[in-house]
Amino acid sequence: MTRPGLIALVTGSRRGIGLGIARRLASEGWHVVLSARSPEADQVLAEFHGAGWSAEYIPCDIADAGMREALLAAISERHGRLDLLVNNAGIAPRVRADLLDLSPESFDELIRVNTRGPLFLTQAAARAMLAWKRAGLENYQPRIVFITSVSADVVSTSRGDYCISKSGLSMVARLFAVRLASEGIPVFELRPGIIDTDMTAAVHDRYQTLIDDGLTPVPRFGQPGDVAAAVSALASGAFDFATGQIINIDGGLTIGRL
Ligand code: NAI
Repeated sequence: MTRPGLIALVTGSRRGIGLGIARRLASEGWHVVLSARSPEADQVLAEFHGAGWSAEYIPCDIADAGMREALLAAISERHGRLDLLVNNAGIAPRVRADLLDLSPESFDELIRVNTRGPLFLTQAAARAMLAWKRAGLENYQPRIVFITSVSADVVSTSRGDYCISKSGLSMVARLFAVRLASEGIPVFELRPGIIDTDMTAAVHDRYQTLIDDGLTPVPRFGQPGDVAAAVSALASGAFDFATGQIINIDGGLTIGRL
């Protein structure tokens, strides 16, 4: 199915899962607004345009209120609509510290980027979506997806700040799902498990050993494409009545086993 004229914003899409999501949506005909902290993404854009996909890049540090505002203002000005917001940008702690050594600085940084940033980006995007809906914009059915993590539920005592930030973001997703349900804007939460990206590169070997030892019933790393396929399905509208649901994209990691 192609989506001519529909605009998707994917945060943190210069690499990793976000890039996978952006590639998938662009290949399906969405115009994708790529965004990340970096001032440019020329190489990524060259790939997209080379493939004949429609995309642009707007830098935005998700933790920066002024940049969030500028990002949405640019989308509004250039396109006059936003059909899909994918809140993907996120960081791991700089140091994996035991809970007893967790620093307030690391905690604050993780909350700022992983929880507070997407909360207020979504708040501003939702306001704009509602205004466009009320203005009777043609063929307009906006949706919102949050990429949280299995860490919203699964405990890792060596990165409590990350778990708390994603647990908080999970609540943000459900809050918006309820608030926007009667407005006709579905909101979903995807929880990736262990995905092969730069974020997991430093612990790749440790995770590989755990996977080999049976941590995940599906015995492999997840790929960005696994998450992207789920975003594509949600973006299609097939799951609109399931608003607020959480989908684990984790190879069965979170299935309780004896
Ligand atoms: P990554 O580190 O490979 O890519 C993260 C992207 O987010 C990059 O494009 C980076 O520039 C961007 N980003 C980081 N901080 C930002 C900020 N302040 N403002 C705007 N953009 C920012 O990470 P990965 O693995 O692709 O992760 C994407 C999302 O998926 C994150 O929210 C992460 O927490 C989540 N996740 C990842 C898992 C994994 O195993 N890789 C598992 C579960 C969730």
